Amino acid sequence: MTLRVSRLSRLWAMRKPRAAVGSGHRKQAASQEGREKRALSSSQAKPSGPDGCAGTILECPEVSAGLARQPEEVVLQASISPYHLFRATDEVTAFRGKLLSWYDREKRDLPWRRWAENEVDLDRRAYAVWVSEVMLQQTQVATVINYYTRWMQKWPTLQDLASASLEEVNQLWAGLGYYSRGRRLQEGARKVVEELGGHMPCTAETLQQLLPGVGRYTAGAIASIAFGQATGVVDGNVVRVLCRVRAIGADPSNTVISQQLWRLAQQLVDPARPGDFNQAAMELGATVCTPQSPHCSQCPVQSLCRAHQRVEWEQLSASRSLLGSPDVEECAPTTGQCQLCLPTTEPWDRTLGVANFPRKASRRPPREECSATCVLEQPRALGGARILLVQRPKSGLLAGLWEFPSVTLEPSEKHQYKALLQELQSWAGPLPAAHLRRLGEVVHIFSHIKLTYQVYGLTLEGQTPVTTTPPGARWLTREEFHTAAVSTAMKKVFRVYEGQQPGTCKGSKRSQVSTPSSRKKTSRGQQVLDSFFQPLVSTDAPIPNSVAK
Ligand code: ADE
Ligand code: SF4
Repeated sequence: MTLRVSRLSRLWAMRKPRAAVGSGHRKQAASQEGREKRALSSSQAKPSGPDGCAGTILECPEVSAGLARQPEEVVLQASISPYHLFRATDEVTAFRGKLLSWYDREKRDLPWRRWAENEVDLDRRAYAVWVSEVMLQQTQVATVINYYTRWMQKWPTLQDLASASLEEVNQLWAGLGYYSRGRRLQEGARKVVEELGGHMPCTAETLQQLLPGVGRYTAGAIASIAFGQATGVVDGNVVRVLCRVRAIGADPSNTVISQQLWRLAQQLVDPARPGDFNQAAMELGATVCTPQSPHCSQCPVQSLCRAHQRVEWEQLSASRSLLGSPDVEECAPTTGQCQLCLPTTEPWDRTLGVANFPRKASRRPPREECSATCVLEQPRALGGARILLVQRPKSGLLAGLWEFPSVTLEPSEKHQYKALLQELQSWAGPLPAAHLRRLGEVVHIFSHIKLTYQVYGLTLEGQTPVTTTPPGARWLTREEFHTAAVSTAMKKVFRVYEGQQPGTCKGSKRSQVSTPSSRKKTSRGQQVLDSFFQPLVSTDAPIPNSVAK
């Protein structure tokens, strides 16, 4: 493996702690700085000058503009070929220059970039970047834009977010998925306001250390974009770009390989414009160096890209049988042993071109779970039709969100009317069992769970209105339902109930619905259950598989 000894790191470890400035968390951060662990594990921050770095253009006591001077390193290579690294300084400089000029020309005008560029208050700026980076984890830019704009209108500062309720946060987050992100963001804002004097930590290390839910990527993104710290970041897009640029064919989800990628990102980040550099690398991955069909002809770093060189070499050698063309560098001396090369078990695939890199991580299939859920409606309730929603537990999957009363089923028991009816009655009192109808099913992929909802409906026609609402339950109008803190899966369930779903899911890649009528020509009237235990709907029809994320 690569052994890295940083001489400068040792010096950092020995230097005097910088005078603590401002709030308690910054003192804490400063006291951490002398630790050997940090000095060896991170080249994220350069030592501050004798008077600290207060008063730099960024006014952050922990960061100065010139941060990115790299520690002098002695890299002892054991089994990594230099072919996968940037060796010459001019190569690094060229990479930065080409990428940044492209970014300056082509960057998308995104609301969080405007905030980061125009906001002079550093805490507000860091907050604006933080919100965007959390929303962008696992979610496409196009989807995030609207959510971000509404969020920043509602809670433009950390203080505003800190005083919001979790219910409001969940409500605004509804449909964005991975709901714990919103909750964590709010917990973080509360911590900054209540414990850190309203000031955001301003280095990657302290951000990660002090803020709940802020990992290495988010910390690096906030530190570089909002505070100008010269720290590299690696997200999915950057993994792809780096693996291609340096022809890294080893599995990037492997810890050792991931460490190499972080190291590479750190080496490449431009000390003069770290935030722009990181965003440019992500932008390149999102718009040019895309997963399936990258646009190499429009790529600003094509001339430095080893994947591209490899494709040319493969084409040349195929057409001229010129194996080992002297013009193209390759990882030849250590092929087969080099830890970053394509594994010998998965040789070059000519049909993939540059997309031979990165290697696909083997994904575990999601766990399969099954629920029965029921839309219980009172069409003639006071003030118009109302549907029953109950709140999920405060922790776990979809914590605190609202849903139709549901029961978990064993995968073997597809239909459990009895348990579902009992659940409904525990919220709403005695109900006419014979009116319970099975309407179809919704399959939704949560991050690691494939959940199949058996969808039922029960309409209380001609009944005495149910007026009881135990704690944790609410009778909502349809309008209220559409703006409530409910998951996308529940919205799909409701569409099945409303009978508006033609049988395939248009709105979401992650969930799919099927109704008995979409699988088998069965009229609605036929679907009404005559008796509680005797469904009229055939349950044998094949159910389409879910659509993976
Ligand atoms: N993905 C996540 N954060 C991003 C950013 N700031 N710019 C471009 N793509 C991103
Ligand atoms: Fe990606 Fe192609 Fe650019 Fe290489 S040349 S970084 S593979 S788009």
